[in-house]
Amino acid sequence: MIMKKKSQAEDLGKPDSAIFKETHVLQSPEETLKFAKRLAAGLKPGSVLALSGGLGSGKTTFMKGLCAGLGVRGTDEVKSPTFVLMHVYKGLCPIYHFDLYRLDSAADAEEIGLEECLADAAAITCVEWAERAAGLFPENTYWLKFRTAGPETRILEIDSLKETRHDSQK
Ligand SMILES: Nc1ncnc2c1ncn2[C@@H]1O[C@H](COP(=O)(O)OP(=O)(O)O)[C@@H](O)[C@H]1O
Ligand SMILES: [Mg+2]
Repeated sequence: MIMKKKSQAEDLGKPDSAIFKETHVLQSPEETLKFAKRLAAGLKPGSVLALSGGLGSGKTTFMKGLCAGLGVRGTDEVKSPTFVLMHVYKGLCPIYHFDLYRLDSAADAEEIGLEECLADAAAITCVEWAERAAGLFPENTYWLKFRTAGPETRILEIDSLKETRHDSQK
């Protein structure tokens, strides 16, 4: 289900017309996996996804679906990289999967190589708890905000620049 809302362009510091904002209601883990798989089809090397939302709000579940859509085999391996901070998966292109939950400061993001990955035009970079280093993200970032709205219900809000989006997502 898709509900278009009036865009809140101030989030991205852009005029209203430049922002694509949408809200999805995902009614089960399977629906989240399916949605993420479909969204993956519109990504290309250089895409950046910033995921935020509380524990259990569905960020890693979304990542499993995304990786399946990007041709990663054995998506059981797709887990929150909470202790190592980053995983790399091999799909249609390299996929960097960060989790900044344990990051103490944005400065530490430098040590784990986040900035290099964000700038890698040959890879797709996805970051859980991205709000902990919000200032590092490029303009073309897809901001995905997850919210728990019931045992099996998650609300996903996506903000992105219009020109970033692939045709299949518009
Ligand atoms: N609609 C839904 N979308 C995603 N996960 C869901 C949904 N409904 C229930 N869940 C459950 O919520 C949990 C989400 O965990 P996870 O994806 O690891 O979240 P996070 O990475 O945000 O901490 C999983 O146990 C999953 O099965
Ligand atoms: Mg997680």
